[in-house]
Amino acid sequence: MRPLSELLQTDDFTRRHIGPTPEEQAAMLSELGYATLNALTEATVPAAILRHDPIQSGGPVTEAQAIADLKRVAQKNKVFRSYIGMGYSGTHTPPVILRNILENPGWYTAYTPYQAEIAQGRLEMLLNFQQVVMDMTGMDVANASLLDEATAAAEAMTLAKRSGRSKGDVLYVADDVHPQTLDVIRTRAEYFGYNIQTGPADGALPDGTFAALIQTPGTHGDLHDLTPIAERVHAAGAELIVATDLLAGALIKPPGECGADIVVGSAQRFGVPMGFGGPHAAFLACKDEYKRSMPGRVIGVSRDARGKTALRMAMQTREQHIRREKATSNICTAQALLANMAAAYAVWHGPEGIRTIAERVHLMTGMLYTALHQSGHSPDGFRTQETFFDTLTFAGDVDLVRARAEAKGINCRYQNDGRISISLDETVTLADLADIIEVITGEQADLAALETVAAHGIPADLQRTTSYLTHPVFSAHHSEHGMLRYLKGLENKDYSLTHGMIPLGSCTMKLNATTEMIPVTWPEFGTIHPFAPLDQTEGYAEMLTELEAWLADITGYDAVSMQPNSGAQGEYAGLLTIRKYHEARGEAHRNICLIPASAHGTNPASAAMMGMTVVVVKTDQGGNIDMADLKALAEKHSANLAALMITYPSTHGVFEENVREVCDLIHRHGGQVYMDGANMNAQVGVTSPGMIGSDVSHLNLHKTFAIPHGGGGPGMGPIGVKAHLAPYLPNHAVRPTSGSRTGAVSAAPYGSASILPISYLYIRLLGPAGMKAATQVAILSANYVAHHLQHAYPVLYTGPGGRVAHECILDIRPLKQATGITEEDIAKRLMDYGFHAPTMSFPVPGTLMIEPTESEPKAELDRFVTAMLGIRREIQEVQDGLLTATDSPLRHAPHTQDDLMTDTWDRAYSRETAAYPTRTQKQWKYWPSVNRVDNVFGDRNFVCSCPPTQEYADFEFAE
Ligand SMILES: Cc1ncc(COP(=O)(O)O)c(C=O)c1O
Repeated sequence: MRPLSELLQTDDFTRRHIGPTPEEQAAMLSELGYATLNALTEATVPAAILRHDPIQSGGPVTEAQAIADLKRVAQKNKVFRSYIGMGYSGTHTPPVILRNILENPGWYTAYTPYQAEIAQGRLEMLLNFQQVVMDMTGMDVANASLLDEATAAAEAMTLAKRSGRSKGDVLYVADDVHPQTLDVIRTRAEYFGYNIQTGPADGALPDGTFAALIQTPGTHGDLHDLTPIAERVHAAGAELIVATDLLAGALIKPPGECGADIVVGSAQRFGVPMGFGGPHAAFLACKDEYKRSMPGRVIGVSRDARGKTALRMAMQTREQHIRREKATSNICTAQALLANMAAAYAVWHGPEGIRTIAERVHLMTGMLYTALHQSGHSPDGFRTQETFFDTLTFAGDVDLVRARAEAKGINCRYQNDGRISISLDETVTLADLADIIEVITGEQADLAALETVAAHGIPADLQRTTSYLTHPVFSAHHSEHGMLRYLKGLENKDYSLTHGMIPLGSCTMKLNATTEMIPVTWPEFGTIHPFAPLDQTEGYAEMLTELEAWLADITGYDAVSMQPNSGAQGEYAGLLTIRKYHEARGEAHRNICLIPASAHGTNPASAAMMGMTVVVVKTDQGGNIDMADLKALAEKHSANLAALMITYPSTHGVFEENVREVCDLIHRHGGQVYMDGANMNAQVGVTSPGMIGSDVSHLNLHKTFAIPHGGGGPGMGPIGVKAHLAPYLPNHAVRPTSGSRTGAVSAAPYGSASILPISYLYIRLLGPAGMKAATQVAILSANYVAHHLQHAYPVLYTGPGGRVAHECILDIRPLKQATGITEEDIAKRLMDYGFHAPTMSFPVPGTLMIEPTESEPKAELDRFVTAMLGIRREIQEVQDGLLTATDSPLRHAPHTQDDLMTDTWDRAYSRETAAYPTRTQKQWKYWPSVNRVDNVFGDRNFVCSCPPTQEYADFEFAE
């Protein structure tokens, strides 16, 4: 018998998270010529930076234990009825959406829809999202989500500056925008050199105003008449940005009908839990003439190779088009999953349902208004609020109200000046309303009587008279069966990790384990308002403190900020701390940021947003930083050097030997080292940014730490810093997160807090040994794939021992030159073989970057190798002159059922070759739902609203 310690199987999860079994790992290692994982690690990772001490995270524990322990932590949060408002409302996630989108790996494990042919489902739902936003705001175009309302407002500020006519530098911000929005805007404006001035929404604009930001309903609940405001703003040569609420848009005249140029807000109350601040989808809509400058991803309508309507990301918003150092936005990962949920909520309720919810919320707010007046809160104590949608603000006895409210499990917003605000939402029942009235007035309400005399808060000229959500999709799926089938139908079009490997280099598409996902929808995490009192969020505090400590240990840093809600936001926050650090030392002039040519587009974009001048460092023949160039540039810019941004292992997929030397060099010249943590999956447990010598990094928790990618978000990009930078970490105006004077970078103090349990459980389940093994197997799998493919496709860069890190780049350029077959042809043909393509043309044009991750079983790695070798044989046929590139299955890929259903088949290869290139497809076949999408057509004929249903129905084969 084995000892009990072994039978308890606390490391069971490690064996499930890591794909190859120990025996398979041994076989893979032996093919590569190594006896153990440690031997491979030592041959791959430079000795000088190898970590020898274990991570201090506790664990591993079993899945059952981890869930039980976290439940106990979660239960330390108190689930109150929160009527705090400030952009966060209670909402009911329709269960059909909860189970079939939020809790469904078919939706949450997909990647950003780069490969449009295998992403038509979520592209359609994201197009619905854009349509919802356009309809509710009355604007011409909308994007497919931003990170949160505050950053959306900041994005609108730069869009207005870039696209508007004014040469001024003043952004006028109404004094009743949400405080967190103002906080984020101030942070962003500082390094763009904009001057923020605040005043009443209808106040006079200061000279030099390039845009005004008005929020309606305002943070205290008042509605603003936008039409005269727009006239004044435009007369001053400025742009009008409006922050608004989608539900209010059902009843109030939408900003687009009042002359707004840009409209932003949050779609959270469309069915997405508050989650202590996120994740939720923010939106940005604008008038047509700004569409080509919009930040974020925009889904557009195009056609496929057979002329069928097909969707894809519109050109300027595909990631490779991030404008690097000329950028005013660095947005990359956004909030696709939550945008999909919000769109589905609108599909589920339809225009009638949305109107009913809006009217109910408004009527109840009117009843509350009248009850307040009747109880003597008016006219002296009750602020004369003439207009409202769902929020009322009044003076009252804060201590008394708070005591009564807390006794009933209710949260209101208590402001420093003694005012109290209450925001109602769709979850409010008559019993809740009676409780709220009693809490404030101390009296029992006669609701029936109140209804007959309820105040109305929307004056006639501010009321909406136009229709919305008129597209048939918003009226077609109101039965649960109908909705279930619609969601399933969309899901079936998309390739996700439920189908097979997604070997996207730089994206780390590892297992998102079910256990890790379960707590996300617990009410103890989901229904907490981000500004709930501290004594109600002790569970979150405990989890955050522990997770921060683990991440600090894993990264070798001293402090962590959880505020940034994407990798790019982390870059921004990290560079902000660097800026503040230099300023505090009297070195504010340091503004040069060195960035290797191979960097991800967000790196130079973030530096540009911090007002830094980007200087590009060359890479040498081997793909490493060109040390001579780096030395020369550091020397040249020594007096003004602010930072170097590097990615490690490099985006070329190798552990550079001289990385310590690089860090020392930058420090000698007074600069700080920012290490992009996107590749942490090759570092955890075997080295760390802190050990290597860097000062600050972001971590893409949606890569290394198991948060699923959601089809384009959510993500989390916390930053770790060395002690000397800790005093400059972001803070938060509403709920302080540090003692620093640095402003906020996100709307919520802890970013998208409700998905942090995923990373928390990932670390606890694997424990120190499991995490190290995960890194080692990620490196093993990448080397295994490189080893098997290198004779067919040259591996572009390797480290000194001939090894790659956790990803490898295959060079397709020689084959392209010889045959005309492109990396895109290979990417599309992989779909026929049942795969998602690797990353295309990043960081080197004409290449494919493969990152298998530790989670793929060996059988799946072998299936991928077989597919790639099969494709290589097909390329050989072109090379040998047996087929032209144009006639080849590679160029016609992907093949659809439409292709095969034709009466005649005149291709130079068989139907079987087209659809069943290997035997595996006979057992299981994933069918792309459209043929190759014509990007150029879509970009020339830009449409980002839902096409008429007829367009799908009328399709005829273009034979
Ligand atoms: C190397 C690198 N840096 C930064 C980012 C940006 O991260 P995010 O998409 O979370 O903003 C990415 C994203 O793919 C990346 O690969």
